[in-house]
Amino acid sequence: MTIAGDWGFGMCSDYTFLSSIFRRVGGAFYLFDGRKFHDNYVDLRDRLRRHWPDTELAYAMKANYMPPIGRLLVELGGWAEVVSAFEYRVARASLPGERIIFNGPIKSERDLRDALGAGSQLNLDSFREIQLLKRIAPEFGRIEVGLRVCFDFPDLVSRFGFEVEGGELEEALAALDSIPGLEVTGLHCHATRRSLGVADPVERVERLCRLAGRLLPRYPIRTINIGGGLLGDMPDSLRDQFAHAVPSLAEYADAIGRAFSRCSPTTSMRLMVEPGTSMVANCMSLVAPVVETRRRRGAWQALLDTSINSLNPTRSSTRPSLKVVSSSPSEAGRRAREYRLVGNTCMENDILCEGVTGPLEAGDFVIFENRGAYSLNYTPPFIVPCPAVVDDQGRLLKRADSPETILASYLSPAHVGSEEDHHEYHVD
Ligand SMILES: Cc1ncc(COP(=O)(O)O)c(C=O)c1O
Repeated sequence: MTIAGDWGFGMCSDYTFLSSIFRRVGGAFYLFDGRKFHDNYVDLRDRLRRHWPDTELAYAMKANYMPPIGRLLVELGGWAEVVSAFEYRVARASLPGERIIFNGPIKSERDLRDALGAGSQLNLDSFREIQLLKRIAPEFGRIEVGLRVCFDFPDLVSRFGFEVEGGELEEALAALDSIPGLEVTGLHCHATRRSLGVADPVERVERLCRLAGRLLPRYPIRTINIGGGLLGDMPDSLRDQFAHAVPSLAEYADAIGRAFSRCSPTTSMRLMVEPGTSMVANCMSLVAPVVETRRRRGAWQALLDTSINSLNPTRSSTRPSLKVVSSSPSEAGRRAREYRLVGNTCMENDILCEGVTGPLEAGDFVIFENRGAYSLNYTPPFIVPCPAVVDDQGRLLKRADSPETILASYLSPAHVGSEEDHHEYHVD
């Protein structure tokens, strides 16, 4: 892999710009480009709407729940998808309850009550949740719920939702039938097999539509939700590593939209999609300074002030796409070498990237592209906590986590054991 010394990202690849941010935030940082999120969201939504006007995108907050993204969703009139009480509260800080979908395997009685009270769409995942709903149903006159289902895909056994072919779904429906005032109005499936390309969401469209058609005489299904799992726009150096073709957002939209138009059992059905990665991956880069270069058994390593936990917390095997912004205006006197890039933790396996060839020196910045999804909120506070986030104008969006922010949830000795700080854990 040969590193490029120059790249077309405007001011964000300017050394003076990067070093001024670096000095202000005191270390590595993420650069966020909100316009890209806006464009990704609008491109996918509006293209789907050309095929099926009643389409909404519920952005999967788990991919990156930064408040600036919540604000963008408000501007876009968008929706959010969440999978825990924590994420639900984060989403509610920006969005009205009616534009939040609550999925996830562990919802407490309180979570169900809060979500129903706020008009959010609940997708039930288990018999346990049905039992909880039974308990609280008398508090509500009418209740609408969706059901997460899973199909017998030959290459995937999903741990989520009610199995359709195994009979679980019918059992769940029978249990729900006994709750007065309850209506099943939605079906949801997020069991993804990305290597199938557009055939992956299309198969979910087809199977959910067929299922909805079967259930419609008994249940007023109004929403079909095909989950997420789409890949987004990415540099060629990432795209080329996939063993399968990577569809564009336009190709996904056309394939999903055509399939839905062909298969929807009614003309009044709402199509819901829950994209996470594809909306946010290309909106954020991680910028890390080179601290030193050093020989190691005849080879070279460059130490960067970031870690594998910020760069690749999910330990994806995809090699990162990176660019170098050099600290010196000319390459004169710099020697191109092959480097192993290593991180700032004490783990031997904190290796950011192997076999990077180019001139690299202390003071340079390495920019890792496409770091927006499952990076920021997946970074643990291990050795060096999560870095700052800055927008493409250099404005601070999030400070780097600090001893104060990380230790804030620990009690002082005076409070240990005190009742007012004792929150009981409820899963019911
Ligand atoms: C229920 C649900 N919806 C949507 C998503 C978003 O998936 P992706 O980021 O692959 O688009 C996820 C991710 O795990 C999910 O669990």
